[in-house]
Amino acid sequence: MRKRIVIGNWKLHLTIPEATVLIEKLKKELKSVKNTELVVCPNFLDIYPASIELQKTNIALGAQDVFYEEQGAYTGEVSPVALAHFVKYVIVGHSERRIHFGESDKVVARKAEAAFANSIIPIICVGETLHENQDGLSKVVVMNQTETALSHLTAEEVSQCIIAYEPVWAIGTGKVCKPGEAEKMIGNIRNLVKAIYGEEASESVRIVYGGSVSAETIGKFASSKKIDGFLVGGASVVDEEFTAIVNEVEKSAPEVAKKPANKTVKAKVTK
Ligand code: PGA
Repeated sequence: MRKRIVIGNWKLHLTIPEATVLIEKLKKELKSVKNTELVVCPNFLDIYPASIELQKTNIALGAQDVFYEEQGAYTGEVSPVALAHFVKYVIVGHSERRIHFGESDKVVARKAEAAFANSIIPIICVGETLHENQDGLSKVVVMNQTETALSHLTAEEVSQCIIAYEPVWAIGTGKVCKPGEAEKMIGNIRNLVKAIYGEEASESVRIVYGGSVSAETIGKFASSKKIDGFLVGGASVVDEEFTAIVNEVEKSAPEVAKKPANKTVKAKVTK
C-alpha cells in the first residue's frame, strides 16, 4: 500500500529565523501524525538549520531544486552531492522553474537522475498550462513531460519517486482542478508508468496533486483513494493552514502503512 504524503513547498518565503518559528510550530502541531508522510522544502539557505531542527521528528526535509552536475564551474548552482547530506527529497521540474528559468523536460530528466545517483528521491512536477488545457492538450502535454522526465531512471527508481501533477493554471491562483480531473490525469500517469516500467513500478510510484491546495479546498480531495498526497505551496508557510491540510489527509488515511512506500535508496548518510 502506498503511504500518502503531504509536501510543503515554501518557495522563496521565510528567512532562517522565520523558518525556525514555523518548524517549531509544525513539530508540535503535527507530532501525532503517523499515517501520512510529511515533508517540508525550504529554500537552500534554510536547509542546514532546518535539518538540525527536524532531527528525530516525523517531518522529513526536501529541497526545491538541485543541479544535475556534481561539481564544476557552475556559478550559483547547488550540487546533489552537497544536498544529499541534508535532504531526503528534492523537487524537480516545478512549473515555476520551467517558466522563469527555462527548464526543459530533458533538464528535468537529468536532475531526477542526479538526485537518485546521490540517494535523494525526486519529486517530479508535471502539468499543463491554461492554454494547453483550453486547447484540449492536457493529456498529451503531461504524458510527454512524464515520459521524458523519467527517461533516465530504472523501473526500481521510478517505483520510489514521487510524481506531482500540478496544472499550471491552478498554482497560486486559488483555482483548483476538479478532483475528478486530477484523478483522471493521475490515472493516465500511472498507466504510462505501467506501460513503460511495468506493473510493480506503477503500483508503487506515488502520484500526488498540487495547485492551490488549502485548508478550504483540501476537503474535496482528501478522501480520494487515487491521489497519493499533495504538494502544497502558499498554504504550507502558514502553520494553521498546513496543519489543517495534514489533519484532513490523516483523517481519511486508509490505515497505517506497514512498510514505507519508498524503500530507502542506498543512503550514504542519515537524513
Ligand atoms: P500553490 O503552489 O499551493 O501555492 O498553488 C503549489 C506548488 O507550487 O507546488
